[in-house]
Amino acid sequence: MSKKIGLIIGSVRTYRVGDKIAKWFLENSGITSKFKVDVIDLREENLPFYDEMLAPMAMKQQFTKEHGKRWQAKINSYDGFVFVASEYNFGYAPALKNAIDYLFEEWKGKPAVIVSYGYAVAGTSSAAQLRHVLEKSMLGMKVMPTMPSVKLEGSMFNEQGQFKDINKSFEPFKANAEKAVEELSGAF
Ligand SMILES: Cc1cc2nc3c(=O)[nH]c(=O)nc-3n(C[C@H](O)[C@H](O)[C@H](O)COP(=O)(O)O)c2cc1C
Repeated sequence: MSKKIGLIIGSVRTYRVGDKIAKWFLENSGITSKFKVDVIDLREENLPFYDEMLAPMAMKQQFTKEHGKRWQAKINSYDGFVFVASEYNFGYAPALKNAIDYLFEEWKGKPAVIVSYGYAVAGTSSAAQLRHVLEKSMLGMKVMPTMPSVKLEGSMFNEQGQFKDINKSFEPFKANAEKAVEELSGAF
């Protein structure tokens, strides 16, 4: 239980479902029995677009602005991450890209689980894109091989756009969520 995981909600739009999916993962993947987990909501973080003169890898962690210092301190305090990523035009959301781009040392080499969701391809294009960025860039993060992907369907939602019964609808995705958490616990 000593390792600390940040579970990042990667979508910030007003009518998002990402927060519900993050909550579902938190409650159904078994992650809280293995780690101390905090939810990190990028909507609450409200980071502006990256606005330092130097690139993050040249910053030597000397942020000049309060929001950068705050974000740096927060991400630095985690041993690993779960990224809950929506799929927008086959990619992940811009707020998540910006939040990742802000930092360097604070992410570097840390293990991560990617949870994606979407309609046609269940967010797998978004997940593949995110994996590429986390692993192949100088961030060199260790993405767990199991990347739970949730296939959304219109029938899951009521007329207000809320999940009718997320636990029932997401039952088929639970095993992969648990498997990814097992892999994460083996990554330390
Ligand atoms: C700008 C935008 C682009 C989208 N593009 C895709 C897509 O390429 N593939 C897909 O399966 N769903 C796509 N969708 C549908 C999203 O998967 C769905 O709206 C999901 O709820 C988005 O996550 P969020 O509600 O947490 O923001 C798109 C939605 C938006 C808002």
